[in-house]
Amino acid sequence: MRIIAVSNRLPVAVEREETGLRLTPASGGLVTALGPVLARRGGMWIGWPGTVGTDVRDIETELRLQSQALGFELKPVPMSKEDVEGFYQGFSNEIIWPLFHDLQSRCNFVPDYWTRYIAIRHAFADVVLEHVRPEDFVWVQDYHLMGMGRRLRERGLGNLMGFFLHIPFPPPDIFFKLPWRNDVLEGLLHHDLIGFQTPHDVENFLDCVARLLPAAKVRRRQRVIECDASRRRCAIGAFPIGIDFEQYAKAAAGPEVTARTQALRADMPNQQIILGVDRLDYTKGIPYRLRAFQRALRRYPELHRAVTLLQVVVPSREAVPQYQDLKAEIERLVTQINGEFTQPGWVPIHHVFRSLEWLELLAYYRVADVALVTPLKDGMNLVAKEYCACQVEGNGVLILSEFAGAAVQLHRDAIVVNPYDLEGTAEAIRRAVAMTPGQRRAPMNRLRGLVRRQDVHAWAKRFLAACGVREECGQGAPSDAAPESHREDDQELSGHVHT
Ligand code: UDP
Ligand code: G6P
Repeated sequence: MRIIAVSNRLPVAVEREETGLRLTPASGGLVTALGPVLARRGGMWIGWPGTVGTDVRDIETELRLQSQALGFELKPVPMSKEDVEGFYQGFSNEIIWPLFHDLQSRCNFVPDYWTRYIAIRHAFADVVLEHVRPEDFVWVQDYHLMGMGRRLRERGLGNLMGFFLHIPFPPPDIFFKLPWRNDVLEGLLHHDLIGFQTPHDVENFLDCVARLLPAAKVRRRQRVIECDASRRRCAIGAFPIGIDFEQYAKAAAGPEVTARTQALRADMPNQQIILGVDRLDYTKGIPYRLRAFQRALRRYPELHRAVTLLQVVVPSREAVPQYQDLKAEIERLVTQINGEFTQPGWVPIHHVFRSLEWLELLAYYRVADVALVTPLKDGMNLVAKEYCACQVEGNGVLILSEFAGAAVQLHRDAIVVNPYDLEGTAEAIRRAVAMTPGQRRAPMNRLRGLVRRQDVHAWAKRFLAACGVREECGQGAPSDAAPESHREDDQELSGHVHT
């Protein structure tokens, strides 16, 4: 069965240069996770190529060439400047993104954003319908396209259809603020299976359905919703996404990353390197993290000259005003903290503001003695998993926010912090730095084992199976009787996956 993945963003972004079009890898967790799944299974990926005003035929030609290298087809959905402003920056990133991350005060509920969203979901549906075959599995990804299922059903598509939300789903008190809440909720129910990152997201979703759509029959134990509105049955489950562990672990142990790691060590001798890697995003808690680091330096003078915070910030959504403000705030804080503590031969914070090459990123992960992953809220956070995969010596310590979806799986062997608690995070930094190699090795090995077993290929397999995609023998309908795993780590992973 062929997979047709549909997401706002393609795994590559098209840029126009004087000499022609150039493709660059897109940033973010969705692309990192889904890329290896499509590369292994083949299929088609439909999405926006990240550019406006470029002739779609030129883009198609460029994507066709790239498709051959990737092992799956790429099909573009072009957007106008108005689409980008109203749908991508506006509806998706000024409304849904902050609201679903519990940051309702950052929302900008402009009615025209919704109008633009309706228009663009028609455009996405048109491209899907142009390419879909009757036996294809249509797999819609993420918060931008929650209404795709409805639109495709309206156009008569009867294929099996799944939806996976990469970000958190909020509780009713927050979701109810959305002016178009019923439409969004009902739109989702047109898929055969809706997957969330954690059992908590599943609960929030079911609470919203129970309160907003009283006619829908919710069989909570089986996680099945029968909905009059769509006259369909829809299964719900938690499917925590993973990474391609082997790909990361193998490259991290390879000669190029080893050489880069040695060079980084030589540049920062006698230091423990504390690493932060985040897209520029207010959900990642970067200002809180910097203040916690400042507090640690104030409270624990033994950390002076002994630690360096390497904070990588990947440019993202810079046309949205709140992201510009965040960039300025980070720069101000870094300058202030470095001004307070720098001594000849030691600068406490190294701030990198750019996209990294993949092997450069892996060297940072491998060399880091401590990873500081402290989002205020995150659907999963793949950086935490990538760090573990690249810890080939097993000497690293993961400090992880309790509000990252990854904490559900990784909490036992990470140092878990509340990112709003500056004192607590400062103390966690001190504790992590003080751990001996002997104290670090067993927890890191367990983390690595878990990230390896629950990798992105296992995630895809479980999702497809729960949706009724029989991989060897063709398709089936979503089944009530999908077996629940009894392995201990799968309890965390899939304790609530029933279909
Ligand atoms: N990443 C990237 N470019 C970089 C550095 C990192 O694309 O220069 C990737 C990183 O490897 C990870 C993703 O960005 O896979 C971030 O995913 P995460 O789930 O942590 O957060 P998201 O950005 O999706 O909110
Ligand atoms: C998160 C979202 C993705 C998104 C990525 C990068 O991972 O869940 O859907 O693609 O951020 O953001 P961008 O706005 O550049 O696509």
